[in-house]
Amino acid sequence: MVTSGPRLLSNVIRSQDALHAPYGGVVPELAARAHLQTLVPVIERALEDAGTRWEQIDGLGVTRGPGLIGCLLVGVNLAQAIAWARKLPVIGVSHLAAHVYAGQLEDKDLRPPVLGLVVSGGHSDLIRWQEDGSIVVIGRTRDDAAGEAFDKGARILGLPFPGGPAIDKLAAEADPRAVAFPRPRAPGLDFSFSGVKTALLYEVRKRGEISDQERADLAASYQEAIVDALLQRVEAAQAEHPAPTIVLGGGVARNRRLREAAEARLGRRAHLVIPSPELCTDNAAMVGAAGLIEWERRGPDLEPFDADPSLGFD
Ligand code: KG4
Ligand code: ZN
Repeated sequence: MVTSGPRLLSNVIRSQDALHAPYGGVVPELAARAHLQTLVPVIERALEDAGTRWEQIDGLGVTRGPGLIGCLLVGVNLAQAIAWARKLPVIGVSHLAAHVYAGQLEDKDLRPPVLGLVVSGGHSDLIRWQEDGSIVVIGRTRDDAAGEAFDKGARILGLPFPGGPAIDKLAAEADPRAVAFPRPRAPGLDFSFSGVKTALLYEVRKRGEISDQERADLAASYQEAIVDALLQRVEAAQAEHPAPTIVLGGGVARNRRLREAAEARLGRRAHLVIPSPELCTDNAAMVGAAGLIEWERRGPDLEPFDADPSLGFD
């Protein structure tokens, strides 16, 4: 829950990691069902944590996409139902834009133009929040998302899902220069991670039985290749489309090596905003902040049902 500023009032996150872990990846059907079960209790908890009553709420922000369609439908339906019942405006926002706008919850003076790197289980995108307030995608992945590369790499190394945190943890005590994995390259500002993933697979197959130290060194070297590729693209984007501020977002932005290397490589070029881990991973607070920002810019766009006379609700 957010208020003007935007200022964070509460941020309740119900992780589905344990639900999907046995399958080694997100199962869309289960994700949608879990949204159905958890949304109402999560909203109630967010109101409670913020010490807010429904009467004090002025509007609702909801993710309209991109994302898993079943989950999006559950969210948009619930937002519209609440809006209808409470006569509130709804603002449908872009999931990717919300990750960039999350930077404003850390730095309320953050204004466009901003360059954003959004890296999660489903996305590796370079985003530019333009001078006129619009959002454009200037680079995207050609194959796996960065989070997927972490998850699949972890599986190859025999680590549990989600793989990103497992690799992050193991890499902390290991040598990132143990194996020189190829740096993923795609044309222009795009990303590609399938090559480095295959290189890891071949390296593990070649070695056969691996010791714990080898596993950790492989994890650290693999992580280093992904982090290097991500930051190389941010540097290229910054050279092509300069912006005074850079924001990182998405679950992979929780990665400690990425956060540290970003400070070292990007901190001198731009004002770097790396939101707290809770604001990097998918969260409703960033969608609330996005709702406020978009509302100011263009007003509400999903009207409650009874606001449309053609639906015959009066
Ligand atoms: O944004 P997110 O929480 O959910 C969506 O994908 O929408 O991102 C999850 C992804 C997973 O692929 C997970 O492995 C990765 O973020 N991740 C990490 C770390 N924590 C989560 N990757 C690298 N290092 C981490 N510490
Ligand atoms: Zn996300």
